Amino acid sequence: MILSILVIFSIVFYLNYRWKRRKVYKIADALPGSNGYPIFGHMFSFLRMNYEDNLNEAMRIIPRNLPIAKVWTGNVLFVVIESPELSHQLLNSSSCLKIPFMFSRPFLARYALPICNGEVWQRHRKILSHSFKVQVLNDLMPTINEKCQRFVAKMKSQIGCGEFNILHHIAALAMETTMKGSFYYDKDFYGNKLIDDMDRAKIFMIKRMARPWLNFEFFFQRSQLYQDIKKSFALIHQHVDEIIKLYETNRANGFVSGKMNIIDQLMSEKSNLTKDEIRDEIYIFLFAGYETSSMALAAVFLLIAIHKDVQAKVIEEVDELFDGENVSMENLSKFKYVDYVVKETLRLFPTIPIVPRKVTEDFQLNEYTIPKDTILLEFIYALHRNPQVWGEDVLEFKPERFAPENYQKIDPNAFVPFAGGRRKCIGYKYAMNFLKIVVIHFFKYYEVSSSLKYKDLTAKMTVTLEIAQKYMVSVQHRKKNVPAI
Ligand code: HEM
Repeated sequence: MILSILVIFSIVFYLNYRWKRRKVYKIADALPGSNGYPIFGHMFSFLRMNYEDNLNEAMRIIPRNLPIAKVWTGNVLFVVIESPELSHQLLNSSSCLKIPFMFSRPFLARYALPICNGEVWQRHRKILSHSFKVQVLNDLMPTINEKCQRFVAKMKSQIGCGEFNILHHIAALAMETTMKGSFYYDKDFYGNKLIDDMDRAKIFMIKRMARPWLNFEFFFQRSQLYQDIKKSFALIHQHVDEIIKLYETNRANGFVSGKMNIIDQLMSEKSNLTKDEIRDEIYIFLFAGYETSSMALAAVFLLIAIHKDVQAKVIEEVDELFDGENVSMENLSKFKYVDYVVKETLRLFPTIPIVPRKVTEDFQLNEYTIPKDTILLEFIYALHRNPQVWGEDVLEFKPERFAPENYQKIDPNAFVPFAGGRRKCIGYKYAMNFLKIVVIHFFKYYEVSSSLKYKDLTAKMTVTLEIAQKYMVSVQHRKKNVPAI
């Protein structure tokens, strides 16, 4: 008797569940790709995949070179976008501005720009957009140049030491530049524990994302992971508090910057942000600014080290245009080849390889009506490696692709390392400037090589994209007669 009631109850529950989600199943049926196993979808394929190459593995699970495809993990349907046209529609639609909670929750912040939604996002975006205006970026040039010169000087100690992971040094450079440029917090971050803690925090976030049961606060707060996260976030939060305290002390002592850097905007009375909003923004800006630029820059160095012909052209341009002192904004625009190299790196190894969005009202993507609450994944990594868009040599590292005569043949929506539309990376101009200025300073004095082979590189996604083989390079003085640093 009890068993019969249970069976009937389960059937009713299941039918009701299916009925409520009928639009989701309808769109799933219409989309290309398999449904995977009943109930579990493609979950087992994802669990089995090689973590060190998880982006290419994801491309094997998700049907390739289609404009749109589906993938199920358990009862969650992800609609994956891989074509320039649909990518443009998605990024520019007001129905797709929301970051899904399952992707924002592990950051343990509520109010920061990359992860907040609705009214809070609009308000914060408006306040912080002032910090990325041309004049503010101009004012940051002395700090970037100063930190690059320090990096170049630090690199001297690596000569003759064989191969090392250049990411550690680049991370310190990016951290110091972000801290001083955005927050007036000028400290030595080479070998600082904060960088290790940021790294650890990132791994913990990914662990949480990979364990769906930890989405429930009840289980999460009783897990070992919660304790680990709390420990590794302690130092990060301590730095955030120090940044705020330093600013308040300076202000109390009569210091008024008169600038519109991030901390000026956050702490301005006009912005009217709460203490929690300010803390969350500073902490997430450290991730958004420092982490993304470090990963991108480390990839640029590795790819230049592997491709000697590219390195020779970079050095030729640097020698022609740079006097070894400071790069000005005007001068920077003349470095065409360095620009192509940075872009080609971001094409093959986009630091944010997947951008998730939640649909807030039924939304038309060509012939498909995507129902409210569906999660769309803008698969930047796959779009940037689509041979139908980029040609048969899509996997080759060819910076000349971005020369105007070649790039004009490519769909303008095919290259989106900074996403696009209203949620486009707020720091994209700053990031491009920073990456190029570091390259210019460094290659004035050094060259790099690596025993890694390009064909062996694999890309893994943690919070950002990482090259699994690490950024192993050795540094040599330039063979020419260069001045001592
Ligand atoms: C190579 C470096 C960088 C890459 C590849 C990158 C990429 C991206 C991408 C793809 C997004 C969009 C995410 C989405 O649509 O959900 C984004 C958003 C964002 N980025 Fe960047 N970024 C970089 C550097 C920076 C820097 C240096 C800063 C700050 C100084 C920054 C701050 C932000 C912020 C605040 C957002 C959220 C914008 C919003 O939701 O309104 N990024 N970034």
